[in-house]
Amino acid sequence: EKGGWDSFMDKEIHEDPAAVSNTLLGRYDESGDLDLDEVHIDEDVFRQIDKIIVVACGTASYTGLVAKYAIEHWVRIPVEVELAHEFRYRDPILTPRTLVVAISQSGETMDTLMALRHAREQGSRVLAICNTQGSTIPRESDAVLYTHAGPEVAVASTKAFLAQIVAAYLLGLYLAQVKGTMYRDEIHQTIDNLKDMPAKIQKVLDSQADVINQTAQRMSKARSFLFLGRHVGYPVALEGALKLKEIAYIFTEGFAAGELKHGPIALVEPGEPVVVIVPSARGRNVLHDKVISAIEEVKARGAFTIVVAEEGDPDADRYADVVFWRPPCPTLLSPLVDVVPLQLFALDMARLKGLDVDKPRNLAKSVTVE
Ligand code: M6R
Repeated sequence: EKGGWDSFMDKEIHEDPAAVSNTLLGRYDESGDLDLDEVHIDEDVFRQIDKIIVVACGTASYTGLVAKYAIEHWVRIPVEVELAHEFRYRDPILTPRTLVVAISQSGETMDTLMALRHAREQGSRVLAICNTQGSTIPRESDAVLYTHAGPEVAVASTKAFLAQIVAAYLLGLYLAQVKGTMYRDEIHQTIDNLKDMPAKIQKVLDSQADVINQTAQRMSKARSFLFLGRHVGYPVALEGALKLKEIAYIFTEGFAAGELKHGPIALVEPGEPVVVIVPSARGRNVLHDKVISAIEEVKARGAFTIVVAEEGDPDADRYADVVFWRPPCPTLLSPLVDVVPLQLFALDMARLKGLDVDKPRNLAKSVTVE
């Protein structure tokens, strides 16, 4: 079943490229226009949508955070992201023009299910982004956009995360198409860029495994890790931190890099490992420089810095102790490559500790209780 891999998690990380390409497949026509007929919500209804609320838990909620950056930019409507278990208990503002997007790999997460039931009772439409055909969440939603990542067995979600980002982006581009908030060419270009991602992800898998493994060996005694990112790198930092804590049982915390001086930097002492997701340096990206100065700040306090950066970034090379390189791509698509080394790193750290990576203690693959 594991097809030669020694764990499902390892196998599933290596299916990241296929999860992306299969989720794209058949979602656009020959001209490059989005074709989401499968969704069965009238185009007119989509045109009227004036707010999106994503409800989800864990890794799926980080997909929501990534999607917020893209969809607000493309569609110019507010996107809120709410942990499903918090959503129902705060009297959220829901109208018939609100689209609630329930993201779930398993389709059985009780917290997410209860949130979508609440949204429907209040008269909002619910669209599920789900990896499991015929599961409860899509059955109870108004519409579903399936991720085609294939079955995910390991408790730690990996390939499903990438597929969810692609599905959420397809939804965003579709909304932009029906609302006319993007030029057709821009939409086609974005689809083309998405089509290029599987090869880039594959390159990370092929070229970075050794340095990631050596870094894990060097870090095998570390008791905690901080993860920092900005913009779409922020949810990637949260996801990297979650992976490492859930399968390697290491205390981790993910932060928005800009928060550093508002508290977290107090945690940095000599030798503390800090993982930083660096945005592209191309196009005089201000965010890049700000993240590089965050690296300098933690280094000045003795941190050991492990950095995920775009190939050829001279600053990453200069300031980081270790760099995991990823190919160039547009900023909004970078989570699809940036998260991959963090998945591999968590896997290696857990393996070095002799842990069962597929079945971490105290956790279940689908959480069917509230
Ligand atoms: O099946 P779902 O996507 O609804 O699951 C949501 C979370 O329980 C899940 O992502 C969890 O955080 C994973 N163990 C993360 O690796």
